Amino acid sequence: MAVVKVEKLKAYYVTGIYGVKRTIKAIEDLSLEINKNEILGIAGESGCGKTTLTKVLFGMIKPPLTVLGGKVVYNLGDGNADILSMPSDQLTKLRWKEVSYIPQGSMSVLNPVRRIKKTFQDFIGTHRRMEKKEDFEILVRNYLRDLGLPLGVLASYPHQLSGGMRQRVTVALATILKPRIIFADEPSTALDVVVQRGVIQLLKRIQKEQKSTLVLVTHDMAVHANIADRIAIMYAGKIIEEAKTSVIFKGSLHPYTKYLIDSLPRIGDKGYRVSVPGTPPQLSSPPKGCRFHPRCPNTREMCKEKVPLLVDVGDGHKVACSCISDEKI
Ligand SMILES: Nc1ncnc2c1ncn2[C@@H]1O[C@H](COP(=O)(O)OP(=O)(O)OP(=O)(O)O)[C@@H](O)[C@H]1O
Ligand SMILES: [Mg+2]
Repeated sequence: MAVVKVEKLKAYYVTGIYGVKRTIKAIEDLSLEINKNEILGIAGESGCGKTTLTKVLFGMIKPPLTVLGGKVVYNLGDGNADILSMPSDQLTKLRWKEVSYIPQGSMSVLNPVRRIKKTFQDFIGTHRRMEKKEDFEILVRNYLRDLGLPLGVLASYPHQLSGGMRQRVTVALATILKPRIIFADEPSTALDVVVQRGVIQLLKRIQKEQKSTLVLVTHDMAVHANIADRIAIMYAGKIIEEAKTSVIFKGSLHPYTKYLIDSLPRIGDKGYRVSVPGTPPQLSSPPKGCRFHPRCPNTREMCKEKVPLLVDVGDGHKVACSCISDEKI
């Protein structure tokens, strides 16, 4: 069952500098289903729109980001609701309790001039009624203990914690109210691999124990290989392939996904690894037709004009490449 259904989403940044209007077509005609209790990985190169998509999925839309079309339908068990047309007070009620978000560069989540305990207190106080101060203390202490975090962090300021511990605290803060959906945007980027592993395992454990749905955004395919049930690959504002993790790694069909997988290092293989040729497109003027065609090794004339649809080629494996879908249909 889909807990979030994205339909034909179109989200642009519309900026005006010195009177010159600039439109960045960050999300274009994007459709995606996120299933209950799954870990969905979203991957793609820098600037392809991963953060923009996560923000829209969480309903965090403010200028210059503008949604020009489409739907983001949540199904949290009490009927479907399109959050893009939901009154803001209703959306506010869902946030953090039902749906949570760990933003990219989540250092910004923790107030640098407040002790961690105060940040938890403010956060819980805003979103849940607590009769007594002791209830708050018990909730936070038990939760941190369950997650294996030292209780000493509560008395610290963010700058007194290591990067990895800060990130774990951020994860704890975002999940303490046991949300049903967690959107995590690059939660482990910029951490060394050992610490990164700890943060990812913490998220995985929370998802399993709380039976929630985790949408994990990272360009790091190794992280996806470790944790994701399914992976959606984004390219220039669109999903170009979506499948179970094993299929993405062993049987991907889109030439861009193949490049991503082939460029990964392999133990014992010292050979040259091919990376994606060319440069990412400017989203202010993306290529016509298939957005990947200028970098694609198999480009045909039709790719320059025809926008490929994301087509299911079997068993939930979806791909947006006219060369493949035309053959399969
Ligand atoms: N506030 C903004 N104003 C204007 N353009 C923006 C803004 N934020 C992002 N963009 C542009 O939107 C596009 C998508 O950016 P986004 O941050 O969503 O990419 P990303 O895939 O998350 O990249 P990264 O992997 O580097 O985090 C990029 O072209 C980016 O320059
Ligand atoms: Mg990002």
